[in-house]
Amino acid sequence: MSPQAATPRAPWRASVLTLFPEVFPGPLGASLAGRALGEGIWSCAAHDIRAHATDRHRTVDDTPFGGGAGMVMRPDVLDAALGAVADDRPAIVLTPRGVPLTQARVQALADGPGVVLLCGRYEGIDQRVIEARGLEEVSIGDFVLSGGELAAMVLLDACVRLLPGVMGAAESAEEESFTAGLLEYPHYTRPAVWQERGVPEVLLSGNHAAVAAWRREQAERITRERRPDLWAAQTAHSDTTHCDAGMSGTAREKTERTPL
Ligand SMILES: C[S@@+](CC[C@H](N)C(=O)[O-])C[C@H]1O[C@@H](n2cnc3c(N)ncnc32)[C@H](O)[C@@H]1O
Repeated sequence: MSPQAATPRAPWRASVLTLFPEVFPGPLGASLAGRALGEGIWSCAAHDIRAHATDRHRTVDDTPFGGGAGMVMRPDVLDAALGAVADDRPAIVLTPRGVPLTQARVQALADGPGVVLLCGRYEGIDQRVIEARGLEEVSIGDFVLSGGELAAMVLLDACVRLLPGVMGAAESAEEESFTAGLLEYPHYTRPAVWQERGVPEVLLSGNHAAVAAWRREQAERITRERRPDLWAAQTAHSDTTHCDAGMSGTAREKTERTPL
C-alpha cells in the first residue's frame, strides 16, 4: 500500500444554506456522488436559513428598497446563517450574475477543504451581506432558475466526482471536455454497424497512436466549430504544443467510416 493510500483524508465538506434543506442531497445521494457520500469521502450538510430568522413569523425576506416586484432576502438573517458555518472554506453565493462556473474553478474547489454555498430565492439577496461576507458570486449559466438549490447541486456534483477515490480508472476525468481546454471527441461502441451507420475505421485498427491522433483531431474540430471562445483560448496558449505534436488543427476533419 502506498503512503498516500495509507493516510486517511479528511472528508471534503459541503455546507449548503437554503430555505429547502430537505431537497439535499437529492440526486447527489445516487451513483458516484452517493457512493462517495456513503464512504465518507465527502459530507453534505444542508442548513435551514429560516432557523436564523428572529421574529415569530420566521421572516427571511422583505420588499425591495426603491420598489419593484418580488422580495429580497434579508442581510441580517443570511449573515447569521453564514456565521454559523463559516470557516476556511470558500463561501459562494449562487447567482445568475456571478462568474460563470468553469472546470478550472471546479478543480480548484475540489482540491480544497470543501465549500459553503448560499442558495438564493425570490428576487435575490441583499447586496450588503454579499459584500460584508466577501462571497464569491458564481453562475451555472446564462439562464434564470427559481432558486439556487439546483445550481448548488450542479456545482457539488462537478466537484465531488473529481475527489480522490470517487471516479475509478474507467471514469477518468483526464480526457473529458474542458480538462485540456477542448471539448471531447465522439464516442462509439457495439454494434459496429447500427442503422447502416459504421464507426470511424481508425477506432477498429488497434493502432493506439492513430486512435489518439484521431481523437485529438476530432476534439479540436468540435471545439473549433462549437466553441470559438474555447478554441481561441486554446490556440492562444498552446500554439507551440500543437506544432510539436504535428497537429495544426487545419483541414483534417474528414471522418473515415467503415464500408457498409
Ligand atoms: C429567480 S432567481 C433570481 C434572479 C435575479 N432576480 C436576477 O435577475 O438575476 C432566484 C435565485 O436562483 C438562483 N439562480 C437562478 N439562476 C441561477 C444561475 N444561472 N446560476 C446560479 N444561481 C442561479 C440564485 O440563487 C437566485 O438568487
